[in-house]
Amino acid sequence: MVAAARAGHFARGERPLVTEDPYAIHLAGGRWRRVIGSSWRHWLVTRVLLRKVIPTTTFVLIRTRFTDDRVLAAAARGVGQLVVLGAGFDTFALRHPDLGIRVYEVDLPASAALKRERLAGADIAVPEHLHFVEVDFERDPLDERLLEAGFDRGAPAFFSWMGVTYYLAPEAVTETLARVTGLSAPGSELTLDYMNAREGVPAEELALFDSLVRFVEKHGEPMITRFDPGSVVNRMGLTGQWDVLQHEFPAADPGPYLGGRTDLPRVAPLFRLLHLRRT
Ligand SMILES: C[S@@+](CC[C@H](N)C(=O)[O-])C[C@H]1O[C@@H](n2cnc3c(N)ncnc32)[C@H](O)[C@@H]1O
Repeated sequence: MVAAARAGHFARGERPLVTEDPYAIHLAGGRWRRVIGSSWRHWLVTRVLLRKVIPTTTFVLIRTRFTDDRVLAAAARGVGQLVVLGAGFDTFALRHPDLGIRVYEVDLPASAALKRERLAGADIAVPEHLHFVEVDFERDPLDERLLEAGFDRGAPAFFSWMGVTYYLAPEAVTETLARVTGLSAPGSELTLDYMNAREGVPAEELALFDSLVRFVEKHGEPMITRFDPGSVVNRMGLTGQWDVLQHEFPAADPGPYLGGRTDLPRVAPLFRLLHLRRT
């Protein structure tokens, strides 16, 4: 659904787009391609069948833009390594072939295999600067696997961890971040999203929050780990190691991403975004 959100936005969204992903349609799968390719099917799926969960797709577009802008700024400053943790159908490496940045896509073996299969099916070659690194955050030593793949711990890197923390046990989140911290040279950056604890949700957003949580629990992968915005940096073990550059709640302040556009559903009040720099 994440690739489908980006593909649907690219095919049907009002210009200028929040994020431009011409590759997502090739990764989204045949069923989604048929939905996106037909006005009435797209309307039926997004406005009727999936209407309860569709606000999460607006957040997907925002988190992609949030990271893209920061990675591009870091690359312009000379950062030459991007680690996409839980990469899924991320397409940064395909969309920016000439940036001179090595991209490490970290994911479960099955997810990486599906991505390779879909890329091959669409005749999209894996670029030389893209490296697949197979890791299960719940079990495997992320740092060892990245170093084996050629990651340079002496040089600054950009780490992005979007769309994953809520699916893991809290210990796996802190363990993974400890390994990221251990690999990060000063000046490295990190973006991630996390799910709000219910207590961190403004009263006016609670009804939508509860209905989205119910829907996801019933139909999707349960989101098991949530954080309170006031203590999240500490609980993730980042205090003292990373400076917080941004901490955003796009549901409350979508303006910088959405402007006055009316073609997208309101942003799901489930998630917040963090951007940090290694001290
Ligand atoms: C919702 S997708 C997010 C994809 C992408 N980062 C984005 O923002 O669109 C979640 C990804 O996390 C990966 N993932 C989930 N649990 C994982 C684990 N224990 N270890 C490694 N990757 C995991 C999944 O395979 C999937 O590719």
